[in-house]
Amino acid sequence: MKQIHLAAHFPGVNNTTVWSDPKAGSHIDFASFAHLARTAERAKFDFFFLAEGLRLREQGGQIYDLDVVGRPDTFTVLAALAAVTERIGLTGTINSTFNEPYEVARQFASLDHLSAGRAGWNVVTSWDAFTGENFRRGGYLAAEDRYARAESFLRTAWELFDTWHGDEIVADAQSGRFLREPGPGKFRRQDAFFDIAGQFNVPRSPQGRPVILQAGDSNEGREFAAATADAIFGRHATRDEGRAFYRDVKDRLAKYGRTENQLLILPAATFILADTDAEANELAHEVRRAQISGPTALRFLEQVWNRDLSGYDPDGPLPDVDPVLGEHTVARGRASVRMFRDPQATVAEWRALADEKKLSVRELVIAVGGRQDLIGSPATIADTINDLVQNDAADGFILVPHVTPGGLDDFADRVVPLLQERGVFRSEYTGTTLREHLGLDA
Ligand SMILES: Cc1cc2nc3c(=O)[nH]c(=O)nc-3n(C[C@H](O)[C@H](O)[C@H](O)COP(=O)(O)O)c2cc1C
Repeated sequence: MKQIHLAAHFPGVNNTTVWSDPKAGSHIDFASFAHLARTAERAKFDFFFLAEGLRLREQGGQIYDLDVVGRPDTFTVLAALAAVTERIGLTGTINSTFNEPYEVARQFASLDHLSAGRAGWNVVTSWDAFTGENFRRGGYLAAEDRYARAESFLRTAWELFDTWHGDEIVADAQSGRFLREPGPGKFRRQDAFFDIAGQFNVPRSPQGRPVILQAGDSNEGREFAAATADAIFGRHATRDEGRAFYRDVKDRLAKYGRTENQLLILPAATFILADTDAEANELAHEVRRAQISGPTALRFLEQVWNRDLSGYDPDGPLPDVDPVLGEHTVARGRASVRMFRDPQATVAEWRALADEKKLSVRELVIAVGGRQDLIGSPATIADTINDLVQNDAADGFILVPHVTPGGLDDFADRVVPLLQERGVFRSEYTGTTLREHLGLDA
C-alpha cells in the first residue's frame, strides 16, 4: 500500500477562510503560524505550506475587501518557524517572474541551513502583469514566456546551490574560520533571461537543493513540473479529475528520464469534519454559506462576466446580460480569471444549471464554487483520503483548513490516528529532511 503524504496549508487570504467564525484568529500574528505548524508537526505531517501573493487583489478598481488583505513575507515567517519546530518541512511559494535567482537561492540555502534540511520551494510564475507593477515590471513578460523564465530561474538557482559540493570546506567550530580556502561558489549564467556571474556565498545546505514544488495547471505548467519538480501542488482533489490529472502528469515524466516516484501529486483539499457524516454535511452547508455571502457571490460572478454586476440581487436569478469578452478589466490578481478561459461557455453552463435546479445567484455560486473536498466523520475522511491515494488520484494532500489557526486540530487528533492504524501514514518521523519525509531520492 502507498504511504500517504500530508501537508498543512496556512489558511488563505481568500474566502475559503471563515474569518467570522468565533474561533478565528489573526492571520498575521506569529502565534497563528506557530500553532498550525506545531499541530501539523504533532500529527507528523510532511510539511507546512505558505502560499504567496505579491499584490493586494482588486476588483472594479478597488481593493477586494471581501478577502482578508495582506500577508507577511514568506522567508521571514518560515525562518521564524524553523526555530519553533524540529522536523516538519517548511515550504514557501516564491515567484520566479519578479525575483532574481541569486537572491532566492541565498534565501533558500539559508532556510535549509537554519532548519537543518527542511526547506521546500513552490515555484510559481504569477497570473498577471498587474502584480509586476510593484516591481516596475508590469507587463514586461508575456504569460507565454513566464515558464521559460521559471525554468531558467530554477536551473540557475540549482547551479548556484551546486557550486558548493559540500566537502571543499569545513568551518572550525570554535573560531568559525574556514579550515580550507573557499574555492567553490563560482558561477556564470548567460541566457535569454539572465546574464550573471560571481561567487555564490552560502555553503552547501543539508538538502543541497530545497525540495521543489510547482503549482500551475496549463500545459506549460505541467511540462515544467514534469521536467523539474519533486511535487505538484494541484487543484484536482476529486476522484475522476484527480486520476486524470495524475495520469497526465506522470505520463510526461519518461521523456525527461524521470520515474513516477520522482514527482508526487499533492492536490489542495479542504475538509469538514464532525462526529457523524450527517453532522458534517449539515456543518458543510453552514460553512459554505459563511464562505459565500451575497456580495461575495456577485463578486465571484463579476470575475466571469467581466463587468459590474453590483446592481443585481444575489438572491435573485443570474444576470440577464452577456459576459464582456476580451481583456479582463474587472478583477485583477486573481486565479479564477485564468481558470475561466471561455467565459461564454461557463455562463451557458451555469445558466443551464441554475434553470434546472432553480438556483439564485448565491446558490449557484455555492454549487459551482463549493470549497469542501472532504466531508464526513473521521472514519469517512480517513477512508476517502486512503481510497484516493491508493487509486492514484493523488499521492497525498495539502490540507487547507477554513479556520485560522485551529482548523487542523481535530484532523490531527481524530483523522491522523485512523490513517496510522490503517498503516498508511507514519507514526514517527524516520528521516530528518523534507526530502526524506517525502521519500524522494537525494
Ligand atoms: C493550486 C494552485 C495554487 C497556486 N498558488 C499560488 C500562490 O500561492 N501564489 C502565486 O503567485 N501563484 C499561485 N498559483 C499560480 C500559478 O503558479 C501560476 O502562476 C498560474 O496558475 C498560471 O499558470 P498556469 O497557466 O500554468 O496555471 C497557484 C496555482 C495553482 C493551480
